[in-house]
This record gives sequence, C-alpha cells and structure tokens, in this order.
Amino acid sequence: MYGVQVIVLLLVFSNSLRKGDASYELFLGILGELFQSDNVLPSDYGLNVTTYVEKQGYPLESHEVVTEDGYILTVHRIPHGVKNGTDGKRERPPVLMMHSLLCSSMDWLYLGPEKSLGFLLAEAGYDVWMGNVRGNTWSRKHVKLDPDRDNDFWEFTFHEHGYYDVGAYIDHILNVTKHKQLYYIGHSQGTTELFILTSMRPEYNEKIIHGISLAPIAFMTDVRSPIIGMMVKFKRQLNNLFELFNVRELLSSSKLIKEAGKVLCADGSPFQEYCSLVIFSLAGFDSPQLNKTHIPVIVYSTPAGTSAKNLLHFYALIDSGKFIQFDYGRAKNLKNYNSVEPPEYNLSRISIPITLYTSQNDYLSSMKDVVTLSQSLKNSVIRKIKYKRFTHLDYLMAKDVDRLLNNELIDYMNSIRNGSASHDHNKGWHDTAPAVLLSFVSLTFVCISLIINCV
Ligand SMILES: *[C@@H]1O[C@H](CO)[C@@H](O)[C@H](O)[C@H]1NC(C)=O
Ligand SMILES: *[C@@H]1O[C@H](CO)[C@@H](O)[C@H](O)[C@H]1NC(C)=O
Ligand SMILES: *[C@@H]1O[C@H](CO)[C@@H](O)[C@H](O)[C@H]1NC(C)=O
Ligand SMILES: *[C@@H]1O[C@H](CO)[C@@H](O)[C@H](O)[C@H]1NC(C)=O
Ligand SMILES: *[C@@H]1O[C@H](CO)[C@@H](O)[C@H](O)[C@H]1NC(C)=O
Ligand SMILES: *[C@@H]1O[C@H](CO)[C@@H](O)[C@H](O)[C@H]1NC(C)=O
Repeated sequence: MYGVQVIVLLLVFSNSLRKGDASYELFLGILGELFQSDNVLPSDYGLNVTTYVEKQGYPLESHEVVTEDGYILTVHRIPHGVKNGTDGKRERPPVLMMHSLLCSSMDWLYLGPEKSLGFLLAEAGYDVWMGNVRGNTWSRKHVKLDPDRDNDFWEFTFHEHGYYDVGAYIDHILNVTKHKQLYYIGHSQGTTELFILTSMRPEYNEKIIHGISLAPIAFMTDVRSPIIGMMVKFKRQLNNLFELFNVRELLSSSKLIKEAGKVLCADGSPFQEYCSLVIFSLAGFDSPQLNKTHIPVIVYSTPAGTSAKNLLHFYALIDSGKFIQFDYGRAKNLKNYNSVEPPEYNLSRISIPITLYTSQNDYLSSMKDVVTLSQSLKNSVIRKIKYKRFTHLDYLMAKDVDRLLNNELIDYMNSIRNGSASHDHNKGWHDTAPAVLLSFVSLTFVCISLIINCV
C-alpha cells in the first residue's frame, strides 16, 4: 500500500508545496520532461471557474462575502442561461450550491453546459450561486488573519462552513436578489453544512424553500472507502505528524498537483490507471462512468484545500458513529460545550423539507446511514439513484450525469417550484401527482417505499 504513504506525505507536506522556489520549479520541469512526451491533454485543461465559464459563453459574476468572523469568501453566480431567455424580467428563483470536501464551485461546472448542474440550472430558469467555503482556492482570505502566517486562520471545520459561511451566503443572496427564500443544493460535505446551519440556527429554516442533499453526510457508520479507512486507522500518527510539522492547511491547489494531473493522469500516460484507482478508492470502485480523458481538467482545480482540523472532525464522526460537534478532548469540551463529550447536532430542529439522494455504490455516504439520517429528520424523502455503479463522485463527474441524475433533478425542482410535488413526511415521492410519478418511474429513480420492500 504505497498509495497510502504517498497520500500521507502529500497531506503532511501539501502546505509547503504551494511555495515556489527555484529547486521546486526545476523539479516540476523534470517531472514534466520525464513523463509528458506522449500525453494528450483535453481542450479544457488549465481553465479555472472564471475562464471556463467565459469559454462556454455564459455570464459569470464573482461576489465577495464577508462572514461574521471575518473570512472573505467568493461565490460565483451564473445569473441566467444563454439559450433560454436572457431578459432580466423573468422570475428566477435563486439556488445556492455548496461543494464537497476539498472541492470548489468548479464541481458544478467541469463537465460543461450539456451535463453539469450549474449550467443546466441556469438554462432551466434558475439564478445559480455556487459557494466556496473558507480555506479553499477562492476563499483563502480574511479581514485580519493571513492564511500563510496565522494558524488561527485554519481553526475551522465543516461546522464553521455551515454555521458562518453558508449563513453569510444565504443572507447575501437574499439581499442581492430581493427574494425571501432560496433553494439549496449540497454535495457530500455541502449537505453536512446544511444540516449544521439549520439545526444550530433554526431561523435559517425560514430562508430555504427546499434542501437537496446529494450523497448526504451526517452519520458515518458504514464508510467503505479504503483510503479513508486507512487514514482513520492511522489517525493518531497522522495527527502527530500534523503537530510535528505544524500542518494546518491540507491539499490546497498547488502547482505540483496540477502538474501531476497533467503528466500522470492524461491520455497516453502509463499512470492514468493509477489516477483512476485513487478516485475509485475514495469514492467507490469501478464506475464505467469515469471519463479518464477528463481527469486532468478535474485535477487542475481539485483538490482545492481545507484545514487539517476539518479532517479530524470527519474522523470523529466515523469513530463515534454520531453526528457530533468537534471533539477537543475532555477538558476543552467541558469548557466549550459544558459536557465532556461533544454534543450531537440536534436534527429535530430542522424544519425545511429535505430530499436525500443516495446510491448503492457510494463508499462514503451509505444507504444505511442515509436511512438513519432520514429517520432523524422531520421532513425528508429519500431518492435512490437507479444506476447501480453510481459512486460518491459520479454526482459531479459521471459521463452521463445528465441522464442519470441532473435532468431528473431539475424536473423535480420544477415540480417543487410549481407546487405539483407534495412533500409528505418521510413517505417517499409516490404521493406526487400520477403524471409526475409516471415520468419519474420511467426515469432513473425508485422511491423509498421500494427500497424498504427490497431489503
Ligand atoms: C483564473 O485564470 C486566469 C487566467 O489564467 C487568471 O488570470 C486568474 O488569476 C485565475 N484565477 C484564480 C483564482 O486562480
Ligand atoms: C426557461 O426559463 C423559464 C424561466 O426563466 C422556465 O420557466 C422554463 O422552464 C425554461 N425553459 C426550459 C426549456 O428550460
Ligand atoms: C444589503 O445590500 C445593501 C446594498 O445593496 C448593503 O448596503 C447592505 O449592507 C446589505 N445588507 C446585508 C445584511 O448584507
Ligand atoms: C471525456 O472527456 C474528454 C476530454 O474533456 C471529452 O472531449 C469527451 O467528450 C468526454 N467523453 C464523454 C463520453 O463525455
Ligand atoms: C432538540 O431540539 C428540540 C426542539 O428545539 C428540543 O425540544 C430538544 O430538547 C432538543 N434535544 C436536545 C438533546 O437538546
Ligand atoms: C410542474 O412541473 C412539472 C415538472 O417539470 C411538470 O411536469 C408539470 O406539468 C408542471 N405543472 C404545472 C401546473 O405547471
């Protein structure tokens, strides 16, 4: 398992890889010379959110939003589509989309206008806002703290993402659009953030029409990812290394990773299979939906960085099997939380309707855990992805994500929007109008009642 050692080293030293000095540049040069010769790079390689959206001919706005605790974040907005009416008069409901761990707003875009949800929603008449949480490529800024010097900048986990970052985004969007409410779509960690915000600050339940949770993460009792499994096993050693080398920032966008994506993962590289293997062992194995040719485009913007502390918070979820706040150890817990154990998030405070999308081949968000989550929420339904090999990352990168998920998801949102989807407590979606029901069945999902009948 050299893979694990390589990943641990990357984690520990990823911070220092950001800084370019002469020997580092030389090393990159040699790496390129050695491996690149026969590689064919995809035409979208080397584009970031702004240049990519521009290339596709879509309008893009970047807004800076300052959180209560001083982080300066960037949210990307595609205010309207290009094929379907660009006049400003139409009513366009705002949608806030939040990416997963180590990712960015690019998640919702990198398969282009025909497939990626960010573009498709804009074309379907929504006002699309794609957030970036503190610490990633687009949100590495603070009114006082310097991310390169101040350790305090990195004192956050997905708790602060939910509590501050998402809260600030919602207030900003509602202020700019003059809407009273918005739709929320999260993937993986982006769903965790929604659960935290709406349980810790119940007033935000008023501001969200509906929460769409793709591959939800709250309870983590059934994680099958070999990489995560190994890292949890060695968490003490990893934590010691973080302390020893004062590692606060993990896997931020660096030239080395971009270069590795270019020279190792492109078509023609003998190491391309290894790149697929890393993706599979994180997300779920062997999806024929992975477009290997496209990996360099993805690796150019991902990973986008997070804090070491964030990883430790995920470990605590896996270790405890509970959806709990950060574990500081007994003494500090007592001080912070007034109890020796970190408190569980109180999911019964969430009142918005939530739709939980789940799939069988997801190594991080298992169906079992999603059912537990659904039972803890007042107002949720589960929708199962029919395609059996759909993985945790296929929500973003499946070749046919439009056919397997996105088209249907947009139909579903439209039916919520025009009031034809009723959303009864924990019942599944079979209570929608018969015509809608039929079209759903013929598409890619089966309802919760079917899952229950099958297992
Ligand atoms: C995005 O790419 C453009 C062109 O390469 C560059 O000018 C810009 O600084 C990039 N933005 C970020 C945040 O990297
Ligand atoms: C075009 O946008 C409008 C709202 O702006 C929406 O109602 C309509 O469904 C969209 N049409 C298509 C084909 O997506
Ligand atoms: C709302 O937007 C206005 C400008 O349009 C700004 O002055 C005000 O501070 C904003 N309020 C909040 C709560 O963001
Ligand atoms: C796979 O990715 C390449 C490179 O971006 C792209 O040209 C191609 O159309 C993609 N294939 C499919 C089936 O999506
Ligand atoms: C969770 O929240 C509900 C509703 O506010 C409250 O009644 C209940 O006591 C809370 N549970 C815990 C364990 O704090
Ligand atoms: C509501 O939206 C659904 C899904 O797009 C559509 O099938 C249905 O015809 C719409 N109903 C009305 C009354 O517009």
